[in-house]
Amino acid sequence: MIQRFGVSIDDALLKKFDNYIERKGYITRSEAIRDLIREALINESLEMENPDVFGTITVIYDHEVRGITERITHLQHSFVKEIRAAIHVHVDEKNCLEVVIVHGKAKIIKEIADRLMSMRGVKNVKFQVTKVEP
Ligand code: NI
Repeated sequence: MIQRFGVSIDDALLKKFDNYIERKGYITRSEAIRDLIREALINESLEMENPDVFGTITVIYDHEVRGITERITHLQHSFVKEIRAAIHVHVDEKNCLEVVIVHGKAKIIKEIADRLMSMRGVKNVKFQVTKVEP
């Protein structure tokens, strides 16, 4: 069953929200609000319940930094159960992109991403996970 509810919101915030949903390509406010609620609930559950998640960790790094390729490979071997696949793309002469596909407890996946982020030579890490069960 679908429920309807009213939301009180000031003009300025609503204007920002309408710009946001236009940028994101939503047709209706309802659709955008539903997605934001789902995202908030998933994020909360990731923090509170440490569920099983699937996800990707995307890493941009400078392969000319001494030892970085070995350190990244070593880290992946340390989490052999969680790391299901890795795709490597040579971006340009200096930079590499690696997408690591992960599966495991949310806290462990977060730890892998954190360890990649703190590595010298790693420029950017984008980390995205989702639960299999809603
Ligand atoms: Ni490369």
